[in-house]
Amino acid sequence: MGLFTKDIATMDDLFLHTLQDIYYAEKQITKALPQMIDKASDSQLKQGFKTHLAETNEQIKRLEQVFKALGKEPKGVDCPAIDGIIEESNDIAGDVSDKQVLDAALIAAAQAVEHYEMTRYGTLIAWAQQLGRSDLVAPLQKTLDEEKATDKKLTMMAESKVNRRAAS
Ligand SMILES: [Fe+2]
Ligand SMILES: [Fe+2]
Repeated sequence: MGLFTKDIATMDDLFLHTLQDIYYAEKQITKALPQMIDKASDSQLKQGFKTHLAETNEQIKRLEQVFKALGKEPKGVDCPAIDGIIEESNDIAGDVSDKQVLDAALIAAAQAVEHYEMTRYGTLIAWAQQLGRSDLVAPLQKTLDEEKATDKKLTMMAESKVNRRAAS
């Protein structure tokens, strides 16, 4: 696009931009999760991060299918929001010396990531429906369901043990 034209003119453009945003975000998440796996002490939490890393790799493939259905090349655009969430989580994790407290911090950081993803997928699903692309809803919904399930599992781990151990 030229210097004096706006890149996003239509709802289709906005949909594509948001798809590129979450594509970039998912890729950044696959780079961040291995560090979170390393830092986690609780074995269930560690395993949960491993499972979600595998899911995230599938989510990236699912996004590539959506790009394909739109006749577009998969491409990311910088997403300062996810970069900020990941940067802040790395900062906090670097500052926490106690292992149990670190687990609580990692869960909090991971839930910030999940909630960001949930807003993006929720929006994309609503827009796909509005644009008459109900064919794109199923893959996006599958991923949204995984993000929600991950968020729930994290809440369960935090409330059933991790927060209590961190506070004792
Ligand atoms: Fe994801
Ligand atoms: Fe996720």
